[in-house]
Amino acid sequence: MVIYDCCIMNLLFFCVWIFHNTESLKVVGPDAPLVAVAGEVLVLPCSIQPNTSAVDMTVEWYRLDAADRFVHLYENHRDINELQHQFYRGRTALFREELQKGNTSLRLSDVRVSDEGAYKCFIKDKSWYDEITVKVTVEVLGTEPVIIMKGFDNSGGISLVCESKGWKPEPEVLWLNREGVSLTAEDTETHRDTEGFRVRSRITVYNSDRIHCRLLQRHHLREAEIIITSEVFHFWESAIITIPVLVVIVFGLTAAVIYHKKVDVTLDPDTAYPNLILIDGGKQVRREDTEQNLPDNPGRFSVCGCVLGKEGFSSGRFYYEVQVSGKTKWTLGVARESINRKGEIKLTPQNGFWTVWLRNGNEYYAGAGPRVPLQKLQKLQKLGVFVDYEGGLVSFYDVEARSHIYSFTGQTFTEKLYPYFNPCNNDEGKNSAPLIITPEFTGITKKGTFCQTKRDFNDALVNFPALV
Ligand SMILES: *[C@@H]1O[C@H](CO)[C@@H](O)[C@H](O)[C@H]1NC(C)=O
Ligand SMILES: *[C@@H]1O[C@H](CO)[C@@H](O)[C@H](O)[C@H]1NC(C)=O
Repeated sequence: MVIYDCCIMNLLFFCVWIFHNTESLKVVGPDAPLVAVAGEVLVLPCSIQPNTSAVDMTVEWYRLDAADRFVHLYENHRDINELQHQFYRGRTALFREELQKGNTSLRLSDVRVSDEGAYKCFIKDKSWYDEITVKVTVEVLGTEPVIIMKGFDNSGGISLVCESKGWKPEPEVLWLNREGVSLTAEDTETHRDTEGFRVRSRITVYNSDRIHCRLLQRHHLREAEIIITSEVFHFWESAIITIPVLVVIVFGLTAAVIYHKKVDVTLDPDTAYPNLILIDGGKQVRREDTEQNLPDNPGRFSVCGCVLGKEGFSSGRFYYEVQVSGKTKWTLGVARESINRKGEIKLTPQNGFWTVWLRNGNEYYAGAGPRVPLQKLQKLQKLGVFVDYEGGLVSFYDVEARSHIYSFTGQTFTEKLYPYFNPCNNDEGKNSAPLIITPEFTGITKKGTFCQTKRDFNDALVNFPALV
């Protein structure tokens, strides 16, 4: 409706003013269609050439292929949010400081599959108008791949199958050995269903090795790995030589083993409160007393001194560790995507936060709404955060003491969950140490004690329900 009305108006403008239009301004956009990745930020380029300020003009962004979809409207020096389609609410912004250069590019955050399509960038002035179309396609990253050990084949090789689903477009599958040399898959099947492409690839391995299954898209990859020790092959040989019945047992054992889920948390600078300084490529954060001059994009915390991880999770289990030593206060945990980033925050699961925190150097709490004091806690050096999305579980661990601290159980997650960090204020230098996401993890076992290797950790994940 709205667009139709506007088009009529544009026509009138056009008719009345066409004779006065002596300039040769035009609107330009990208030469090729844009490729976006679901969940990420996309900039749709659009600008006036030659350079002319668009500050006093009207800028309309709308969907060409979905009649009523007003994406973003700027008019009379402000964004007119009332006309914006609900679907885009809070996800769009123009670059205000760029408008005077005639740059009317649109920033679209949290890209969704249904954002795929054609967008019109329409700019008008009293005496002139022009427009361009920007085409967008959206790629979706599938699930973490899982490697399943199917058992031995007749020649003593171990048959591995790698599976993953939810990709768009179809990913390329690569098997690599320890040295990174690619191995030839025996067969790779791809099916398309409502969730996207599902991939299943098979390979046989004859030696002990570390095998990676990598799924590649133009801009992203996901990878799983499996370590096959020589014992596995020895077991096979002795089983063959002695009693064939044992082979059945070997199948039973190996089928239960291993998948690897690597979570490499990096902080997202676009969400960081302006006083926060991200260090080491987003692996550390500390807070300064002075504010940096940063754009107030929709994802940025403007009141709470917090920052989120770049990657959100909407399925599976993930675990990461944060070093908190040398600090007197902090808050850590996970938050759902739709949390309020522009106001005061109350840390409760109802509000979308599953967190624990330290205040005054020795007071620990869990934000269960009301807060729960965590009394027995000694000085915590490293915090482990574990989330089982489908299981509705968020657990916290004291990594050094190898003990469980607190769990939120029986939760229902319907949105993406993001790692949540608040290093808190400097406290006159007493709290200036950064929060550090540690690259290595120690891992947890089903007994609530800790594993030494990633492999043990993987085994523990398989049996996870017994963990807490
Ligand atoms: C347009 O603006 C850009 C960036 O401010 C500048 O580099 C360029 O020289 C300008 N071009 C013209 C034709 O004014
Ligand atoms: C417009 O501004 C955005 C954000 O600063 C920038 O990424 C883009 O390159 C600019 N486009 C032009 C044509 O200057």
